[in-house]
Amino acid sequence: MKNIRLLIIAIVLIVFGITGIVAMHGSGSSQLGMPGGMMTSGGMMGRGGMKEMMQRMMPDMLPLGITPEDLPLPDSPGAKLLVRYCTQCHNLPSPAMHTAEQWPGVTSRMFSRMSMMSAMIGMMNVELPSSEEQQAIVSYLKTNAMKSLSPSELPAPGSQGAVLFKETCSQCHPLPDPKLHTADEWPKVVDRMQSNMRSMGKKIITDNEKTEVVGYLTRYGRSK
Ligand code: HEC
Ligand code: HEC
Repeated sequence: MKNIRLLIIAIVLIVFGITGIVAMHGSGSSQLGMPGGMMTSGGMMGRGGMKEMMQRMMPDMLPLGITPEDLPLPDSPGAKLLVRYCTQCHNLPSPAMHTAEQWPGVTSRMFSRMSMMSAMIGMMNVELPSSEEQQAIVSYLKTNAMKSLSPSELPAPGSQGAVLFKETCSQCHPLPDPKLHTADEWPKVVDRMQSNMRSMGKKIITDNEKTEVVGYLTRYGRSK
C-alpha cells in the first residue's frame, strides 16, 4: 500500500515536472497526505483523489475555478468540452484567465500532460480530447479570452487611479481593458476580484484603494 502511494507520487511528479514544488511547499511525503478515497475500481487513482492531491501539492499554480454556469455561452460545444476535459485534474479554468495570444501555449502544455497521463492506462484514467476537440477547446478559449490592454495604452496613465489599477489588476492575469465593462458593471466585477484576491492569497486592496480603482474603471469603461 505504502509503495503504491509512493509510486503514484513519483509518477505525478515526473509527469508534471514539478519536483521543485514539493521542496517549496514544505518537506517530506507526509505533507502530501494522500487522500483516503484515492483507490477506486476505475483505476488506481480516482479523479477526486488526484484533484485533491494536486490541490495540496500546488495550490498556487492551479486555476481558482469557476462553475460551468459562469462560463460564457455555457451551452456551446466549446464550453461543454472545456468542462469535460479541463476539470480532470483541477477546477474549471475561466477563459478570462489568459489572453487569446497566451491560450495556445497554456493548452498545449495541458494537452501534453493529458496525453502522458492517458498513456498510463489503468493507473490514472485521464481522457484525452481528439485533435478536433482540442481545436474546438482552443478556439472557444481564444474567443472568450481576457481582452487586455498594454499599460502604455491606458487613458490618463499618470493618474492615481491608473497607477493603482495597473499594480492591482495585473497580478493574476493580464491587465484588463477598461472597455470590457460598463460603469454599472465594474463595481461588481471588482468586488468579485477582491474575493479572488482573498482566496488566492494575494494582497487585498483597502476600501479607499478600491474606490479609486472603481472610479478609474467607471470613468473609462464602456458607455453602453
Ligand atoms: C492531466 C492533468 C491536467 C489536465 C487534464 C488539465 N490540466 Fe491544467 N494544470 C495541470 C497542472 C499540473 C497545472 C499546474 C502547473 C502548470 O501550470 O503547468 C495546471 C495549471 C493550469 C492553469 C494555471 C496555470 C496557467 O498557466 O495559467 C490553467 C489556466 C490550466 N491548467 C488550464 C487547463 C485547461 C484549459 C485544460 C483543458 C484543456 C487543463 N488545464 C487540463 C494539469 C492538468
Ligand atoms: C487574486 C488574483 C486576481 C486579481 C488580483 C485580479 N483578478 Fe481579475 N480575475 C481573476 C480570476 C481567477 C478570474 C477568472 C474568474 C472570475 O471571473 O472570477 C478573473 C477574471 C477577470 C475578468 C474577466 C471576467 C469578467 O467578469 O469580465 C476581469 C474583467 C477582471 N478579472 C478584472 C480585474 C480587475 C479590474 C482587477 C483589479 C481590481 C483584477 N481583475 C484583479 C483573478 C484576479
